[in-house]
Amino acid sequence: MCGIVGYVGDRAATPLLIDGLKRLEYRGYDSAGVAILNGKGIETRKAAGKISRLEAVLASNPVSGNSGIAHTRWATHGAPNECNAHPQMDCRGHIAVVHNGIIENSTSLKARLVELGHKFVSETDTEVLAHMIEEAFDGNLEDAVIEALWQVEGTYGIAVVSSDDRDKIVAARKGSPLLIGLGDGEYYVASDASAILSQTREVVYLDDGDLAVLTKDGYRVIDLRAKDLERTVHKIDWDLSQIERGGFDHFMLKEIFEQPETIENCMRGRLLDEEGTSKLGGLNMTDEELLKFDNIVITACGTSWHSALIGEHMLEELTRIPVEVEYASEFRYRNPIVNDKTLCIVISQSGETADTLAAMREAKNRGARTYGIVNVVGSTIARESGGGIYVHAGPEIGVASTKAFTSQVIALALLTLKIGRLKDVSVVRGKEIIHALRALPGQVKEILDRAAEIEEIAEEFKRAQNFLYLGRGYNFPTALEGALKLKEISYIHAEGYPAAEMKHGPIALIDEMMPVVFITPHDSVFDKVVSNVHEVKARKGKVIAITSRDEPSLVGMLDYEFRIPQTVDMLTPVLACIPLQLLAYYIAVKRGSNVDQPRNLAKSVTVE
Ligand code: AGP
Ligand code: GLU
Repeated sequence: MCGIVGYVGDRAATPLLIDGLKRLEYRGYDSAGVAILNGKGIETRKAAGKISRLEAVLASNPVSGNSGIAHTRWATHGAPNECNAHPQMDCRGHIAVVHNGIIENSTSLKARLVELGHKFVSETDTEVLAHMIEEAFDGNLEDAVIEALWQVEGTYGIAVVSSDDRDKIVAARKGSPLLIGLGDGEYYVASDASAILSQTREVVYLDDGDLAVLTKDGYRVIDLRAKDLERTVHKIDWDLSQIERGGFDHFMLKEIFEQPETIENCMRGRLLDEEGTSKLGGLNMTDEELLKFDNIVITACGTSWHSALIGEHMLEELTRIPVEVEYASEFRYRNPIVNDKTLCIVISQSGETADTLAAMREAKNRGARTYGIVNVVGSTIARESGGGIYVHAGPEIGVASTKAFTSQVIALALLTLKIGRLKDVSVVRGKEIIHALRALPGQVKEILDRAAEIEEIAEEFKRAQNFLYLGRGYNFPTALEGALKLKEISYIHAEGYPAAEMKHGPIALIDEMMPVVFITPHDSVFDKVVSNVHEVKARKGKVIAITSRDEPSLVGMLDYEFRIPQTVDMLTPVLACIPLQLLAYYIAVKRGSNVDQPRNLAKSVTVE
């Protein structure tokens, strides 16, 4: 997610703000900007790309003042360019806003503001906030911000300044973290403490629904009715590296634990509960066009290829359209059956994977419509695809993909729901799937709360030389993903296999030294997997099972068991993969691997 820094006091604001942004770079971003109150009005400087480019702009065109706000953007609405960079301004340039989060109802708010005569310059959702505050402004900035926020749906962490209510910063939080830093006659606002740790260790964490009003004479925390709130002053005793990882030992663990929020963000504003379907803004296809496809090809690499396999099951089960999943590296050199009746879905976290990009271009050359399921906004695959959905997982710093994977599966479920409901999927079935989707964030949190159980299992198997992961149906891809996670960060050889296929060879590997992870939630193929468990046990294999409820047929068969909540079959991979991510993580840590940057791996494979 992006970074926010604000300062009000007697010192020059610009260098403090730039220093703060630099300390937030680890959060990932695509552009940056500052707004400074210079005693007469507001001056902004913005740049696409790295903060160094913003520094170059400031060097050639300095701006000075004792208060201001700054932002590093992780684009969700609008390409990562200078115009869309924050701060975003009102019509008169008297109000500047920086924002972290997603304004879900920005389209309707913008339409109303345009009718009122407001002129918009950016593609962002954030800009509506600046014009709403302008519309409400009557001399007091916090009152105007409150009036604007009552109309907003979605998530925000914001900081706002106005040249008509000077040397004041108004900050507000709902769903995106924000804190206040307390200095001596100066005050800060920041996304996290790393931005201001060099200046102060005294902070006040804002809660959802809080606003803060900062001047150099002091600060107030108020609610959305302008009622004063008491908030504790905390002393930060973490070091910088701990703060950057949000207190987690590794970015990968932080990202595993972000999944309740990232899954929520992927669904945000995209579920139509009453109609039992989904709303996909970036589809760029009418319903009629969606119904014209004879076949679907899904192409990707690595973990994204595993989510593609899950998507294949979903789409074929619910839309009855034939689906082929292709390794991008294979697809581009075959002579695939692709034409203007083909929908080519391209899945990529980075949006820059060379093989996947080349496969998409090959599909386009053959006349296919392309649809990207991408995390990084404005990435090459996102820009070159004919339409798509951003999974909104935020920057994924750990090389081993975790939160992007679960959000890719959610995005595929949303697309499946959209097409399926145009075909034979009933509104009842659609509502059942939506109900299950809405339950996922809480269910993932429930699993994460029991992470210690997985760490105990990891302790037992940290010296294993090999692992087998077995699953069926929707969870054969989960077996592949669990094996890849273990392989790539612990360097243990691990293989994912369809559970029944194990009899055709791999069963020769089973002995008391071979841990076998079974993904066996209570789904439609459960009974079949149970017989595979018995086959492994008969050969003294060590069985670790991911199950979803008490099963008499498994009593006495499992050496280790981890229980996950029940959900619809198509969403079981989202829950089953969480313990597998944790198992790989804890084993890798116990083996002393470099979890966030495993040997030989790159986060984005931009070469063939
Ligand atoms: C997954 O943990 C790996 N880092 C790797 O397999 C990755 O999924 C693959 O390189 C594809 O990357 P992409 O999703 O960014 O295209
Ligand atoms: N939704 C806003 C935008 O796309 C803010 C994104 C962020 O969190 O940086 O500009």
